[in-house]
Amino acid sequence: MGALLEVRDLTTRFRVGRRVFINAADHVGFTLDEGETLAIVGESGSGKSVTALSVMGLVPNPPGRIEHGEILFRGEDLLKLTPRRMRGVRGNKIGMIFQEPMSSLNPVFTIGSQIAEAILTHNDVSRAEARSRAIELLKQVEIPDPERRVKTYPHQMSGGMRQRVMICMALASSPDILIADEPTTALDVTIQAQILELIRSLARERNTAVLFITHDLGVVAGIARRAIVMYAGRIVEMGPVKELFAKPLHPYTRGLLRAIPKLATPRGQPLYTIPGIVPDLSRLPLGCAFVTRCPDREAICGKGKPPLRTLGDGRQCACFLAEGGV
Ligand SMILES: Nc1ncnc2c1ncn2[C@@H]1O[C@H](COP(=O)(O)OP(=O)(O)OP(=O)(O)O)[C@@H](O)[C@H]1O
Ligand SMILES: [Mg+2]
Repeated sequence: MGALLEVRDLTTRFRVGRRVFINAADHVGFTLDEGETLAIVGESGSGKSVTALSVMGLVPNPPGRIEHGEILFRGEDLLKLTPRRMRGVRGNKIGMIFQEPMSSLNPVFTIGSQIAEAILTHNDVSRAEARSRAIELLKQVEIPDPERRVKTYPHQMSGGMRQRVMICMALASSPDILIADEPTTALDVTIQAQILELIRSLARERNTAVLFITHDLGVVAGIARRAIVMYAGRIVEMGPVKELFAKPLHPYTRGLLRAIPKLATPRGQPLYTIPGIVPDLSRLPLGCAFVTRCPDREAICGKGKPPLRTLGDGRQCACFLAEGGV
């Protein structure tokens, strides 16, 4: 059987000036299996959200447009669906939680009515039934005292609680895929760990596949078995998380690994950050997009775009200098 989701050669372009276009996602391809959790990691602006929005059919047009590619869900290309059928997939089959829950919750309705609304949209049930299911869902996301909580408004909740409500709403239709776009970035560390654990256990119980987006390679190990590393709109490395950590192939992945804060960093020693900044996508260097920051660069790196190659151990890497190419 094929993958649950297969993104093939996706290019999503934005118009950012009169004659200036950028490829926010540039020939991106990956698969997601039933029940699998796959992480996408990369610095700000690397194209993680644009990739997720492309899958959801939510790329703002204009200025954005999917130029090229296929997004196969159970073998069917979502890019070919009518807007109406796509709305059916979104929310029903593929749910998404966003970085900032406050922007996705309506401040003037109680959280109970918002969850009930999500349930009513996707299921043929009575209002009373939707309400009791909302309470049941709040229990599942471990919100204490859910009978009372349904009557509260979003601003009366903490950030962590709001994110739990968002998870609730995304799960209301029992989707096959949950896309979690930096769901814990706005939260403090302990709450972050709780939300990660919650997503992990819910996904396991329900056999939901998760596309987990983060800029923090540190959280990837705890949640996903496989990861994609993105840089300037492209996939630069893809493979099992264990191997990515043990033997990163791309210099950018090595930089991200070094940048994970370690408890053992001696006092006074600055934390490592990758030197330089992500290049402006409208002014990418001629060759590899990472060339300006790469500690290992050689003459060839400035000449052409390194293709994503499958290396000996089945991993993929877009670096001319990575060893073991086939
Ligand atoms: N609506 C838009 N109009 C113009 N450019 C956009 C738009 N949305 C995204 N982009 C551009 O696409 C590129 C990728 O953005 P994206 O939001 O996918 O980054 P990201 O990896 O999710 O970063 P972050 O970690 O900050 O969320 C950026 O250069 C961004 O400026
Ligand atoms: Mg983003």
